[in-house]
Amino acid sequence: MEIDTATSRASSIYQHLIRVIAPRPIAWVSTISLSGTPNLAPFSFFTGVGSRPPSVLFCPANRRDGSAKDTLLNILDTREFVVNVVPFRLAEAMNLSSTELPPGESEFDLTGLQISESQVVKPPGVSLSPVRMECQLMHHLALDGGPGGANIVVGRIVHLHLDESVLDSAGYADPELLDLIGRLGGASYCRTTDLFDLLRPSP
Ligand SMILES: Cc1cc2nc3c(=O)[nH]c(=O)nc-3n(C[C@H](O)[C@H](O)[C@H](O)COP(=O)(O)O)c2cc1C
Repeated sequence: MEIDTATSRASSIYQHLIRVIAPRPIAWVSTISLSGTPNLAPFSFFTGVGSRPPSVLFCPANRRDGSAKDTLLNILDTREFVVNVVPFRLAEAMNLSSTELPPGESEFDLTGLQISESQVVKPPGVSLSPVRMECQLMHHLALDGGPGGANIVVGRIVHLHLDESVLDSAGYADPELLDLIGRLGGASYCRTTDLFDLLRPSP
């Protein structure tokens, strides 16, 4: 099958992309509104950018009515957010937190998840998430406006929290202890339980 993206519907292209760009890590992004309501939502169009500066990016698309999601609005207002990781045991709560609530209501209340005060930024993290990246906004790029319009948010990681429980003897996060999930297409997810090693080729 060949697809001309210029003449295909955006909703159909989206269905293809979420299946073929996979598995995707999930940024479980917590923010806070100017009036103090904590917000939480998952985003799988997400990746690390680099270590100098320590940085991540994720992509909150506009809603079907063309409005920006609460996560993006809060980040543009406060210039801060936290990326929490999602272990398998928090998969259901993560999914529930994707419910679109009115701006004054918090997904922390909906899910019953406890907040954890951050070290540097104002938005709290998810207490049960073993890794929390506290970020300050570096760039916001709107690729298109209106319904489904894509946005890129780039954040500088100003503080990194790692629970002792997921560290190996060298002090780095161990994939088996983290037990993170990834998102595939449709309603499918994967677990990081089937691992293999590859050594890098020598020059
Ligand atoms: C696993 C998962 C991944 C998601 N990834 C994205 C994404 O990359 N971009 C996006 O705009 N929405 C994504 N969503 C949908 C948002 O989480 C959802 O629209 C949420 O209600 C946004 O919340 P907010 O309005 O509080 O920011 C994802 C949902 C799930 C369950």
